[in-house]
Amino acid sequence: MSLLQNNKSIDKKKTFLILKQFLRESSFGISIYGRELIVKEKDNCQPQLLKYYFADATTESVIENNIQWALGRRDHPIFQFAYIMLPNGCNQACRGCFMGQDKQKFPPHLNGPYFLDQEIDEILNFLIKHGAKALVYGGGGELFTWAGAMDFISRVFDRGLKMVIFTNGTLLTREMVSALNNFGAVLIVSMRDTAEKLHDEIVGNKGGFVSTLKSIEYALEEGMNYDNRLAVEIPVTVLNEKRVLNDLLPALRDLKIVPIIEEYIQISVSEYEKMDSHNFSQSRAFFNEACRCYHKMGVKWEPESGSRMIGQPQCRRPLYSFSVFPSRDVLDCPSHCISFGNLKRNSLEEIIYSDAFKQNILNFKLCACSVFYTPTDDQIPKNLPDYLETFK
Ligand SMILES: C[S@@+](CC[C@H](N)C(=O)[O-])C[C@H]1O[C@@H](n2cnc3c(N)ncnc32)[C@H](O)[C@@H]1O
Ligand code: SF4
Repeated sequence: MSLLQNNKSIDKKKTFLILKQFLRESSFGISIYGRELIVKEKDNCQPQLLKYYFADATTESVIENNIQWALGRRDHPIFQFAYIMLPNGCNQACRGCFMGQDKQKFPPHLNGPYFLDQEIDEILNFLIKHGAKALVYGGGGELFTWAGAMDFISRVFDRGLKMVIFTNGTLLTREMVSALNNFGAVLIVSMRDTAEKLHDEIVGNKGGFVSTLKSIEYALEEGMNYDNRLAVEIPVTVLNEKRVLNDLLPALRDLKIVPIIEEYIQISVSEYEKMDSHNFSQSRAFFNEACRCYHKMGVKWEPESGSRMIGQPQCRRPLYSFSVFPSRDVLDCPSHCISFGNLKRNSLEEIIYSDAFKQNILNFKLCACSVFYTPTDDQIPKNLPDYLETFK
């Protein structure tokens, strides 16, 4: 039965004028239902690329510049963006959150105070000088639990950079989304499943699913999707993979929302929670199926060794970005732990121009969180981090 025929859902009908075509009532509450709505676009169209964040042809030239710079043949590196992590808490406790918010067991570099205005200015000045267009909030927790969040975003915007914001969306009002749109921000709204009860249980927040959907609806009302500034991110597990490909992907594609459908990261998860994750053979099957679904929609995309996200190549973020944590450590990636230095002891310029940073670029092979998809068993990397050995 359609959600809209259900009396209880009259208020929800008012809320979801755009999303309503994809919503159904199921035994798990409201569910995203996209399997009958696959619209084939013209053949060979490219996957939609999220503004500022996704790797594209420009990223390749940034990487090439940085390799040449690390070899001493160019004067400056270039960055597509930098991540900033903040010490804010979270209003959810998503199972297996790689920032440890579900277990209150945080990575050590999340420990530290908020950045002072002059520290923020140092980071922004450095980014502007090195060609970046955006600053990405990747966590700690949920940005909008912090009372200073909108002022912070406004400050970044005033300096000419755009914010890319990972958010669970639950705390966003229509007015906030409208202001974020005016700041040119990009929203990456996180979900854990396509059905209300399943999602709410995994994120530990009753009502979370509906609140998250509302933020997506507001962003659609603002038209952020037509400017490649709206994404939905979902870590794929053995539990949700069918719904993700059959229902979520076609619905997002139809709505022109960028799908960030990615492998579940195993950092900060318990031994038991690792079982939610694909092993190598399941990952291969998943990406083959993802390809098939995309091809049905006319989208041209093939995974490559190391792919962990549909519509994107293997992750090489440490070659075109860096991450600053509340401890003031400057790391290669939010889900890694190679620190190149600390802003309490050195300037950002000194840290990035260091030999350690250059060597990391020259020695880069494949990030530990990106080893999953391999076309065959014998392409599984020989040296895996311990936590992945069992999944060969
Ligand atoms: C750590 S959260 C922080 C921002 C915000 N609270 C949110 O949920 O979007 C950043 C992103 O990491 C994703 N994430 C969290 N744990 C993950 C895991 N184990 N594997 C893959 N992605 C994960 C979330 O879904 C979200 O898109
Ligand atoms: S909402 Fe984001 S930070 Fe909070 S627990 Fe979920 S994934 Fe982690």
